[in-house]
Amino acid sequence: MFFVSFWRNWRCISFDSFKLYRGLCVSEMGLQDRAMASLGLCLLWAVLSQSQQPLDPEDQEVFQPQSTLSDMEFTTVSSFRGPGNNDSRGNKELPILLWWTAGLFPHFPGDTERIDCARSSCMVTRLRKVQLHRRTTAIIFYGTDFRAYEAPLPRLPHQTWALFHEESPMNNYVLSHSPGIHFFNYSATFRRESDYPLTLQWLPTLDYLLSPPVFSLQQKNKWRRAGLAPVLYMQSHCDVPSDRDRYVRELMKYIEVDSYGQCLNNKPLPERLEDTSTATGEDAEFMSFVARYKFHLAMENGLCADYMTEKLWRPLHQGCVPVYRGSPSVADWLPSEPSAVLVDDFPSPRELAQYLKALDGDDAEYARFLEYKLPGRVTNIRLLEAMRDREWGVNDMSRPNYLNGFECFVCDRENERLAATRAHRRAPKKNPLPPARMANSSHMGCPLPSPGFGSVVDLPANDSWLQMWPPDYWQSLDQAEGLQSLIQHNESDPGLLWHYIQKLAASRTGGV
Ligand SMILES: *[C@@H]1O[C@H](CO)[C@@H](O)[C@H](O)[C@H]1NC(C)=O
Ligand SMILES: *[C@@H]1O[C@H](CO)[C@@H](O)[C@H](O)[C@H]1NC(C)=O
Ligand SMILES: *[C@@H]1O[C@H](CO)[C@@H](O)[C@H](O)[C@H]1NC(C)=O
Ligand SMILES: *[C@@H]1O[C@H](CO)[C@@H](O)[C@H](O)[C@H]1NC(C)=O
Ligand SMILES: *[C@@H]1O[C@H](CO)[C@@H](O)[C@H](O)[C@H]1NC(C)=O
Repeated sequence: MFFVSFWRNWRCISFDSFKLYRGLCVSEMGLQDRAMASLGLCLLWAVLSQSQQPLDPEDQEVFQPQSTLSDMEFTTVSSFRGPGNNDSRGNKELPILLWWTAGLFPHFPGDTERIDCARSSCMVTRLRKVQLHRRTTAIIFYGTDFRAYEAPLPRLPHQTWALFHEESPMNNYVLSHSPGIHFFNYSATFRRESDYPLTLQWLPTLDYLLSPPVFSLQQKNKWRRAGLAPVLYMQSHCDVPSDRDRYVRELMKYIEVDSYGQCLNNKPLPERLEDTSTATGEDAEFMSFVARYKFHLAMENGLCADYMTEKLWRPLHQGCVPVYRGSPSVADWLPSEPSAVLVDDFPSPRELAQYLKALDGDDAEYARFLEYKLPGRVTNIRLLEAMRDREWGVNDMSRPNYLNGFECFVCDRENERLAATRAHRRAPKKNPLPPARMANSSHMGCPLPSPGFGSVVDLPANDSWLQMWPPDYWQSLDQAEGLQSLIQHNESDPGLLWHYIQKLAASRTGGV
């Protein structure tokens, strides 16, 4: 019963908690390896399918006659027509992009809008009734909410799929597996290799990095002498794939760390700052509270190339030194060398602690970490160029946000593809078909979670991280392979996913 009521309510709780509950369900079943995990998914699915709400009748209809599109022919709200856009077609002739994840639809009011992009125009909608329409050429998904068991099937050969996933890898490991990322023809992810990269999404501007330190080193040293720890830790989301608490718990044996969040808490927050909504925002009082610390533990919840968040950029903004673990290639984006301490440069928490203590006692060396704030001292060309060249802005009304930006990216690519396909039909010899495009592991590809400290073989079987994240990762592979199989069999009911996963599991164990 727990599962059923939880499922009915899951849209009301954050996805992080969803993951947590799902992990707990799995651990209660005592699942260890992948085959068993598949079975668990099937059980879970059996429960989920019973409790799902019936579909909206509109969503159940397929192969709609043209007249159901009539509402699309009226709404026209021009957005940013690029100088290269001489598209004079009427709404009825434009390709349709369908947002499968309706909640993220970046337009209002209404469900459908014409967009005029840099080079061409499209209709965008969140009405699923156009799923199988011939004019619907692309379906756009939000990675965190992408569910194999509710994918739009059958997958039509004339349609492309586009993935928008700027959030943590922990939110959906399906996308980190090759068969999972291969579903998509276009991607916008935090990886620099993606088609529409969002790598520096948490860095609003270059000036954000350059602002002078909130407190001088003299002031910070005064607080140190008054008893403030050298290192700050502030996390309230404790059971995460990167398993950061296990590392920090060890580090705390060797250096003083003030920890105010719910994870490894050893200090109360001042009453005024207890409200977590304040503590996570850019509240001025909160900002100056944390800016007193010389070092901020900046540890992402999931480890993946190019996944960097405000945990990195905020201490840099404030003039505190991030002690960072997250993207293994973070050095490619730092303003200068040195500007952050990288946890993985040290063989153990003990050696990291020794280094931080030495740096705490050496003002000249500490000051070197903040030199990028001096005029002309950001030396990282990759960072400078990426900030100059990205077309989207963060809280910048003069530029598109990256949701609209990606939508237009897909629109322009789709119009190019359609034009090339038409040209091919007219003169196949002269105009070869455009090559197929497909996202691959370089657009996501986050690794199997590993313990934050120590080796996986040393963890007790009842370790909560061990019970949650490795099974989640492998179940995600099952889902990706299950959906792949559904598509290959031209199934139109994604609800058959569990059945397909079971068949795959059986064939893996020798076939029954
Ligand atoms: C738009 O202009 C370009 C040249 O700038 C031309 O090649 C293209 O055919 C035009 N497209 C339409 C739809 O008129
Ligand atoms: C889109 O990706 C699929 C694989 O998921 C592939 O079969 C198809 O050819 C691709 N379509 C285009 C237009 O590139
Ligand atoms: C993956 O996609 C990128 C383009 O986004 C491409 O350059 C690369 O060759 C692809 N890798 C493989 C193994 O296909
Ligand atoms: C895990 O098992 C050990 C004994 O093997 C026990 O001491 C410990 O309390 C258990 N921990 C949890 C969280 O159940
Ligand atoms: C796939 O299924 C749809 C209906 O569900 C059908 O119209 C289509 O012809 C099928 N495609 C193939 C290749 O069998």
